Amino acid sequence: MRKPMVAGNWKMNGTREGAAVLLQAIKNSHQKFSDKEIVVFPSFIHLPLAEKELSNTDIQWGAQNLYLGKSGAFTGEISGAMLKEYGCRYVLIGHSERRLHFHEDLNLIAEKFKSAIDVKLKPILCVGETKTQREKNETEKIIKEQIISVIEKVGIKNFEEAVIAYEPVWAIGTGLTATPAQAQIAHAFIRKLLAEQNESIATKIQLLYGGSVKADNAAGLFLMPDIDGALVGGASLEAESFLKICEA
Ligand code: PGA
Repeated sequence: MRKPMVAGNWKMNGTREGAAVLLQAIKNSHQKFSDKEIVVFPSFIHLPLAEKELSNTDIQWGAQNLYLGKSGAFTGEISGAMLKEYGCRYVLIGHSERRLHFHEDLNLIAEKFKSAIDVKLKPILCVGETKTQREKNETEKIIKEQIISVIEKVGIKNFEEAVIAYEPVWAIGTGLTATPAQAQIAHAFIRKLLAEQNESIATKIQLLYGGSVKADNAAGLFLMPDIDGALVGGASLEAESFLKICEA
């Protein structure tokens, strides 16, 4: 069956000292979570700290972004090959903040997904609609476009090593969570969409929910049949709330 997964997206947060303290707290609880996949996504600059603290635990770490190819004249960018050197196993692709603030379009996101696969990093593809799109009843259309554009680039087979996070944009950092029922509808839609391409991948792939997941709403979401875990932003910045979500 699908292993439950909780991923913490730290975004552009954390000091050197704060990151070390948070990593140590997570490390100290790691034995409680051997039946789950726990992954943290610190900023690039804190990845060596994650490697140092988490290397001998079951907890994984990954990056929030990457750029295409292995190396080259791309000032300010980091490649998948570099991330692998620091022990990353996962990378977030297409987070809504990348789509919005950094103008990452469907094509670039598909290319980034491919770059991750090429170096055997597991992509967590983030998809989700804005408030306006939901109000216009476009949720499924948007999710479909965001997933199919990647399948067209890399093929469904390459989703064997991927995870998808459904993150409605209106729920990210706003304190507004999708209800378990709303999230389940979107997750079931995603699984059905994948099943049209490959039944076995659709059954196996972990689908995470993201958007204001907190210690007090996680359990309700995790009860839903197609929700396999969470991608957590704000609540992953404190050990106590993050670990409570892992326990849920
Ligand atoms: P949030 O962020 O939990 O702070 O809403 C989730 C995310 O952006 O992945």
